[in-house]
Amino acid sequence: MANELTFVQKHEFLLRRLHSLTGLVPVGLYMCVHLATNASILNGVEAFQNAVYMIHSLGNALVFVEWGAIFLPLLFHAIFGVYIAYSGQFNTSRYSTGKNWRYVLQRITGLIAFVFIFAHVAHMHGWFHVDFWLQLMEKMGLAQFKAYNAASTAAAAMQANLLWPILYLVGIAACVFHFANGLWTMGITWGLWITPKAQKRADYIVWGIGGLVMLLGLSALGGFMTLDPAKAHDIEVRMYEESVKSGRIVPNEHKLSHPHVSP
Ligand code: HEM
Ligand code: HEM
Repeated sequence: MANELTFVQKHEFLLRRLHSLTGLVPVGLYMCVHLATNASILNGVEAFQNAVYMIHSLGNALVFVEWGAIFLPLLFHAIFGVYIAYSGQFNTSRYSTGKNWRYVLQRITGLIAFVFIFAHVAHMHGWFHVDFWLQLMEKMGLAQFKAYNAASTAAAAMQANLLWPILYLVGIAACVFHFANGLWTMGITWGLWITPKAQKRADYIVWGIGGLVMLLGLSALGGFMTLDPAKAHDIEVRMYEESVKSGRIVPNEHKLSHPHVSP
């Protein structure tokens, strides 16, 4: 029938609210904590390695946390976001004409974030931790991050080609703009700031948050670009031996870079 509703049209309200919510929690919150963890590289190799040990102390549960709390909500937000960006049917009256550029930029930065996050997770994490897949990715210069040699592998991955830091700079800027402006539009979606005066005040808050998160991103990027991977590796080898001896971490070949030389 000509006027039969599609699944998305039927559930538009719920999907829209879910899309809005996932942008804040877990995706937005994850990005802030993730950039703060990465920025801890400025406190030294030990500080960053300790933070990664803590995350990886989840052991076998880590894969469920990654997929359940990060990848699946992110994929839902991203895929529905691309749908919104292309269909262009939601919220066209949200911005006054003066703010129209923000409406357009929200969509453009969403698409940039899509490409960046896809490439970034392939670059560092490899997406799927299955042996044959990881070997294939590593051969292509991807899946470079090894959790027990966290700082040296992240730094080497970032320094492998000048195109990586350029991609990260553009990607971080797009994600941060998208997040900060998204907080502002969320306030309207959820009825937090309605009057023009309240919206102006909200502007200061969201751009303040955006500035701080951008600073974290730039600190992380600068930290990994300037770190000496060989020096960092020596510190990590010592930390690994001590941590295995004290029972703090479980030995795991897959989380070590090769060659891993004992002191
Ligand atoms: C991965 C690719 C992504 C795509 C394609 C995407 C797409 C979109 C689009 C099109 C909107 C506007 C929705 C509307 O105006 O109705 C939006 C909103 C939003 N996005 Fe994303 N996004 C992505 C990633 C992210 C990331 C990484 C974050 C957080 C760091 C995020 C946080 C938000 C927030 C908070 C909103 C505001 C929701 C609202 O207005 O109620 N998004 N996204
Ligand atoms: C300089 C900036 C960044 C650095 C150095 C960095 C570093 C890393 C590293 C090393 C991993 C692998 C973690 C692991 O396998 O255990 C990772 C994973 C990931 N990053 Fe980033 N990242 C940066 C920016 C971002 C941004 C802006 C986003 C946007 C949301 C993001 C989203 C993710 C996601 C979704 C994962 C996969 C989750 C996981 O591995 O558990 N990253 N990042």
